[in-house]
Amino acid sequence: MRSVTSFNDSWVFSAGFTAADAGTLQAGQPISLPHNAIELPFNYFDETCYQRAFTYQKVLAWRPDFSGREVSLVFDAAMADAVVYLNGEEIVAHKDGYTPIEARLTGRLREGDNLITVKIDGSENPEIPPFGGRIDYLTFAGIYRDVWLKITDPVSIANIKIETRDVLSDARTVSVRCDLANPQGLSFTGTVSALLKDAAGDVLAEVAGETAGGGVTVQMDGLKGLSLWDIDDPVLYEVEVELRTGRGSDRVAVHFGFRTAEFTNEGFRLNGRLLKIRGLNRHQSFPYVGYAMGRTAQERDAEIMKHTLHCNLVRTSHYPQSKWFLDHCDRIGLLVFEEIPGWQHIGGEAWKEEAILNVARMIERDWNHPSIVIWGVRINESQDSHDFYAKTNRLARELDPTRQTGGVRYITDSEFLEDVYTMNDFILGNEELPGSNRPRTALRPQQECTGLSRKVPYLITEFGGHMYPTKIYDQEQRQAEHVRRHLEVLNAAYGDPSISGAIGWCMFDYNTHKDFGSGDRICYHGVMDMFREPKFAAYVYASQCDPSEEVVMKPVTFWARGERNIGGVLPLIVLTNCDEVELKYGSLVKRIGPDRENYPHLPHPPVVIDHRHFTKDELGVWGMKWESAEFTGFIDGKPVAGRRMVADPVPTTLEIEADGKTLRAGGRDSIRIMLRALDQAGNVLPFLNDAVAIEVHGPARVVGPTRLVFQGGSTGFWLESTGAAGAIVVTAVSSRLGGVKLELVAMAEGEWNA
Ligand code: GAL
Repeated sequence: MRSVTSFNDSWVFSAGFTAADAGTLQAGQPISLPHNAIELPFNYFDETCYQRAFTYQKVLAWRPDFSGREVSLVFDAAMADAVVYLNGEEIVAHKDGYTPIEARLTGRLREGDNLITVKIDGSENPEIPPFGGRIDYLTFAGIYRDVWLKITDPVSIANIKIETRDVLSDARTVSVRCDLANPQGLSFTGTVSALLKDAAGDVLAEVAGETAGGGVTVQMDGLKGLSLWDIDDPVLYEVEVELRTGRGSDRVAVHFGFRTAEFTNEGFRLNGRLLKIRGLNRHQSFPYVGYAMGRTAQERDAEIMKHTLHCNLVRTSHYPQSKWFLDHCDRIGLLVFEEIPGWQHIGGEAWKEEAILNVARMIERDWNHPSIVIWGVRINESQDSHDFYAKTNRLARELDPTRQTGGVRYITDSEFLEDVYTMNDFILGNEELPGSNRPRTALRPQQECTGLSRKVPYLITEFGGHMYPTKIYDQEQRQAEHVRRHLEVLNAAYGDPSISGAIGWCMFDYNTHKDFGSGDRICYHGVMDMFREPKFAAYVYASQCDPSEEVVMKPVTFWARGERNIGGVLPLIVLTNCDEVELKYGSLVKRIGPDRENYPHLPHPPVVIDHRHFTKDELGVWGMKWESAEFTGFIDGKPVAGRRMVADPVPTTLEIEADGKTLRAGGRDSIRIMLRALDQAGNVLPFLNDAVAIEVHGPARVVGPTRLVFQGGSTGFWLESTGAAGAIVVTAVSSRLGGVKLELVAMAEGEWNA
């Protein structure tokens, strides 16, 4: 049987690397993984600081259970160019920063201490995708995901592939392909059995097969009474595979779901039902620590997409992301578009070979995730490259005939080698270019982009972004325009049945190279800021959900008289899924329904309050003196949402909110904590640029600085466990708002599981 244990703790980290020293333990800093080689400031830094080599070392003491068994280290990922050494001898090199590396130690371990040395080269090696050109994101450096020590018998399970068939019938089939690892090339025979289990662990079906030294596929047919995996009810099943041979045994469990997912000329169908895709792109980065965030932070991002933004799909732009993130997408019912690493640039032959390997690594790692509905097999926004993309498509289809391929492009009329034409349509905003006579258009009809004479499956994979960068503290008018653009594109996507949906750029602001963004190494393209605090545009997505999930009513205003050019707050967009919104302003009371005229296709058009809704006299009242406002949202004639916005806001409350109450003591688990400056009505004070000092007592530390400044009325940080269990008290003190306290608990693994 296998044992897989965390290998994250007790590493020694140092800058630089010399191969001759790989066999000697260097002086360095004790660290645990995930780890970012260089902790960065929030913005305005030199991104070349991490583009060099670093050394990670750890002593692995011999254990009796290594004897006669296969021993390896599995790195979930390391950025970017990694070489693993054992006692000074090179074991394996890996030129991909986004997929696992397995370093086989068998036969080379000695009794006593063994030294593991990992060279991580964070430089942008032009031989490795995505490097060689300029890319609009940072890749950071370090062993930024988990590492595991894996011990198995000499013959073990290498990988499992689950395929489901007849999913929409009442007698389904599950086929289980079990690939074996036999690195010593032993001869053996044995049996492979597979159990199908439900979430409660009850066995629903069972099948067995025999192996005469190679992989085995077994099949369970006529499965009845099983549930589908769907976005509203993501039912997962588990297949537990057991291998028994004369060379030992192994057991591996994987989860999967029953679902069909198909992009058609008439839109996307999940389990046969049309579903308009409403999504956002996600980078896997976080402030200060880049990619190096562990399980909980990954899972929370998926939850934010699903439950705060109410999106139904995330694109893992522009590379395979953490398995914790993908596992959670399976669990909560969030669809995924996953793609290979790259950005606009196609390198030379070695580079392309690596990109083709990336297709295999991505698919073989992730083919069992029901959430993944399409593989992106082109370098994002690259030029056509017939032979290269014919190969990536062929390989993807061979490895996984159950999913369609896409390849994200922004050039029109590009060669269509994939199953789905996936287009970054940045047309909106082009009318503003000098000399343009183009009328404002949210999206182009698909054939204008594809140049094909027929309709094909078609998906918008990006829009917005650099066409209208918007900061959380930007002027209200700009933020309202940001909102309008997201509304217009979603409306256009909903209105055209041949468009499967639209995935906006992007979920949150991200650190980037000097060549992009606002000069401070940030692209302010998110509908949230880097702390995942929603900008107004976030509510464009959120408000499209059914009110049974959440009632949303967000007026796009700070409610001030002179914040906009010329003054006033009209036209005032209220992002909502209510039937009507009532605004009370002094003696004026207006109840207004959704703007179906301008946004006829959205499930929930916003309410737009403008001059048309007031008589001349009323507009006079409106203009006299500035008063407080009350917004009430109605569904079926009943008030379901309320918000008061005051005319005289003053700093009243320092709000502290954590996205959980407990964290795992081990494994550098983290929790996100937001701080907000609120007025007497509980609204954020967008221009209070006060500083907040954070103190932590107990087994945790603040990731990044402990003195923070509000940006747009809020700021945040991640709090990370430091190994021990116990009570944690976080205090935050601001000069204008006083202090607040938050109590959390770090739990030992045993307590956590209980
Ligand atoms: C796209 C690109 C994204 C991002 C975005 C900004 O062209 O695919 O990675 O750079 O532009 O709007």
